[in-house]
Amino acid sequence: MDAMTDRISSRLWPAGLTRVPYWVYTEQDVLAAEQKRIFEGPVWNYLCLEIDLPNNGDYRTTFVGSMPVVVTRAEDGEYCGFENRCAHRGALICLEDGGSVQDFQCVYHSWRYDLRGNLRSVAFSRGVNGKGGMPPDFDMSCHGPRKLRVTTFCGMVFGTLSPDAPEFETWLGPEIVSRVRRVLGNRRLEIIGRFTQALPNNWKLYFENVRDTYHASLLHLFFATFRITRLSSGGGVLVSETGEHHASATRAPPQGADSSYQGMRSDKESFRLADPSLLGMHDEFHDDIQLQILSIFPGFILQQVHNALAVRQIVPRGVDTTDLNWTYLGFVDDTPELRAHRLKQNNLVGPAGYVSMEDGAVGGFVQRGIAAAADELSVVEMGGAGAETQETRATEASVRGFWKAYRMHMGL
Ligand code: FES
Ligand SMILES: [Fe+2]
Repeated sequence: MDAMTDRISSRLWPAGLTRVPYWVYTEQDVLAAEQKRIFEGPVWNYLCLEIDLPNNGDYRTTFVGSMPVVVTRAEDGEYCGFENRCAHRGALICLEDGGSVQDFQCVYHSWRYDLRGNLRSVAFSRGVNGKGGMPPDFDMSCHGPRKLRVTTFCGMVFGTLSPDAPEFETWLGPEIVSRVRRVLGNRRLEIIGRFTQALPNNWKLYFENVRDTYHASLLHLFFATFRITRLSSGGGVLVSETGEHHASATRAPPQGADSSYQGMRSDKESFRLADPSLLGMHDEFHDDIQLQILSIFPGFILQQVHNALAVRQIVPRGVDTTDLNWTYLGFVDDTPELRAHRLKQNNLVGPAGYVSMEDGAVGGFVQRGIAAAADELSVVEMGGAGAETQETRATEASVRGFWKAYRMHMGL
């Protein structure tokens, strides 16, 4: 055991998955350990979409946890990824969000890299007028940013720093693979919006929130009021074997009276939308799943809320600061009607979305609530103590699945 593990595991954490100590959201050394063991460990991190890099020479900057990364399309079309850190003194190699280049030149002292992240030239390496310069035995091939293994799946690009990460689809498992295919299939994606949302909380509070099927109709008044999702609607939560990934599904709401929300904040039976088309559903998935929220460990989300589709990437910025990168999606073959419908329905999600604005605030409420509670425990007991797939959303099984995976990766 190294010193970091020693320090972390000496803190209180009862056995089992139903209690989570609050120090995991507030300690600096936990965040440092997560970077090493989770984000740089045997997992696949979402990097970008294939359509972000349509041509050879295209690049996009992204993150693996807190590590800045450049994803490129090399001369032969291959997707490549490397750390966005100059081998000389550590400056960012690439400053823009994206673009198209032949090579990269660090602005600080002009060291130059090819599209695969190999160091190709060092400015003034032979000095000036026979003086200065790099030593003759300096070997450029021994210096460069760390490189990622990169793979693509359903139009998305994922990367890992670990030689031990299993093949991507094996790692997801067949059920999660089919739930991703259900939404993205072999269709040609088109980006119809993108932005970054700043969250005032630890990254794990957001990832838990995404996997928390219990809160949706209680926290989000819009959901239950207009019956988009209620726990009394059919559906359930799928949790992968290791707990790493999940997919929740909501089926059509029940017909007729539903008294299960009586006395709750969302018990507003008389409310009606002035424009009900906001909640229309174009049948593009050919099943009765109206909402599917899917997560891939440690920080990727694929969202289908009716016809509002998005991918979200979680980027930790500090123990209590997180960036959430949203990309709204459509397909190249959308009819004009479907595209207009998607754009309207995107008002449901995002930082000011009718059904998701509270998610941007509630993590901050937790972060503030636990300010002095490092050694206290949260309770995660809805639906039992296990992390298996369940035919209900009145459960915290996929939250427990997250902690099962987390403890495995962290060695806690
Ligand atoms: S830090 Fe990049 S060239 Fe010096
Ligand atoms: Fe939510």
